[in-house]
Amino acid sequence: MSAQLAIIIAGASGDLAQKKLLPALFSLYAQQLLPAEFRIFGFARTPLTDAAFRTRAAEHLTCRYTPEAQACAALMAQFLARCHYVAGEYGSRDAFLDLADRVRQIAGSLGGPRLFYLAIPPAIFLDTARALGDTGLIACDAPGDDWTRVVIEKPFGRDRASSDRLAAELARVFTDEQTYRIDHYLGKEVLQNLLVLRFANQVFEPLWNRTYVRDVRICWKEDLGVGARAGYFDAYGIVRDVMQNHLMQMLALTAMEPPVAFAAQAIRNEKVRVLRAIPPLRPEDLVLGQYAAAARGAGGRPAYRAEPGVPPDSRTATYAAAVLRVENERWRGVPFFVECGKALDGQLAAIHLRFRDVPSNIFDQTAPGLPPNELIIRVQPDEGIFYRIVNKVPGLNLRLEPTELNLRYRTAFPGVIPEAYESLLLDVIKGDKSLFIRGDELAAAWDIFDAVLPAVDARPAVPELYPYGSRGPAGRAQLAARHGLELEPPA
Ligand SMILES: NC(=O)c1ccc[n+]([C@@H]2O[C@H](COP(=O)([O-])OP(=O)(O)OC[C@H]3O[C@@H](n4cnc5c(N)ncnc54)[C@H](OP(=O)(O)O)[C@@H]3O)[C@@H](O)[C@H]2O)c1
Repeated sequence: MSAQLAIIIAGASGDLAQKKLLPALFSLYAQQLLPAEFRIFGFARTPLTDAAFRTRAAEHLTCRYTPEAQACAALMAQFLARCHYVAGEYGSRDAFLDLADRVRQIAGSLGGPRLFYLAIPPAIFLDTARALGDTGLIACDAPGDDWTRVVIEKPFGRDRASSDRLAAELARVFTDEQTYRIDHYLGKEVLQNLLVLRFANQVFEPLWNRTYVRDVRICWKEDLGVGARAGYFDAYGIVRDVMQNHLMQMLALTAMEPPVAFAAQAIRNEKVRVLRAIPPLRPEDLVLGQYAAAARGAGGRPAYRAEPGVPPDSRTATYAAAVLRVENERWRGVPFFVECGKALDGQLAAIHLRFRDVPSNIFDQTAPGLPPNELIIRVQPDEGIFYRIVNKVPGLNLRLEPTELNLRYRTAFPGVIPEAYESLLLDVIKGDKSLFIRGDELAAAWDIFDAVLPAVDARPAVPELYPYGSRGPAGRAQLAARHGLELEPPA
């Protein structure tokens, strides 16, 4: 690794930069994982001095890796001394040339590796990329350590066509090799473990197919409404914000074939292959909902349409459930129920594989109606892997009950579990693209949803309403029932 590194964050005054990126970089620094001569340059329109930028950044840094207060304070001071700030307009070549001057002044030269992180809203994405390109700052990779890498955040377009256009425009400025499309879910520890669980253990892979798996459910839910992201969210909705990206990434890792090697290209080849095996979603297999005010007595939580920044006649979906099919030898006939929503009854991201019933169960007479085995991979919160089995309750009678074998990360691995952005930023620095989304992968994920998006956008009515804090709209259970899926017992 080169001793130098300039990290340039466009949108450095924003939420992502302040709450995720700078804390993640500090965590890497605390673990001595950043090059010795690194510098961070924040760039945004808000006028800030270096000192003001550092004060803001300090608010979100944590001492997770250095619990001793004095040592942590010293590390923070050293880290912040390497953070600088330049104010300017995103679409301005001159502003980025000023930034380049500042990098030269502080870092001594513009040589050495450069990491650009575009932590900015989609509306200003292209202008920023073009302005950066016009400055010549995005030099082609030179041999050795003198690389330039650019991290971009979702949303990558609004549909297949706009995503392709965005990719083509960005390709004028950054090469594919330089581009790191991030989906921070892929940095989550349990998802990184999914390939290990599947392919480094003998016990799961033989069962991981249509013969033994009855259905797969992938769930992402939040117990809060849109909060401060109303403007962005209302323009995109839950299908584009969560289902097309986070859920499809979780599905791809769950359903993919074994890659030929544990290497970026091989893994991404298999993810593309499985996404391409999913036929376009049919409108009748999609349920959309929007949260209404909480039922009485539940703390006065507002309807989506009453949230600050949301138009009072918004038809944007805050909940979506879909049933997808993976048309290949392994999965034909197995429904994949994917759902995501805001203002639901809890916070959870998890993958459930429910197995088929034992074909000829000698205990059917003794203990009828026991639930099938289920493997649950809980991505957040309280990461873990749980396996529901049937077990004899100790005692003199033969009493059978479902019981959980559990691998709860918090107890099994008492060390610090890295944040997704720590892991992903380190991968960018190392040049490991395994956990970043390739262009064809993105296109394949859009192809699944492209046919339903016009209907999602042109809805004549509000999506089905569900009370804040509930499990979602009534259509959820109806969709599941149509595909022979049993969801959890009624609340
Ligand atoms: N926040 C997250 O956790 C998160 C998670 C996943 C993906 N993302 C994606 O990451 C990107 C950045 O997220 P964010 O939450 O940090 O966004 P943000 O806070 O809304 O925007 C980042 C910065 O961009 C500038 N900006 C905002 N709106 C602008 C506009 N209309 N025109 C010009 N500049 C504008 C603001 O800085 P100045 O006014 O100082 O220029 C703001 O501080 C977005 O694409 C988002 O979708 C964010």
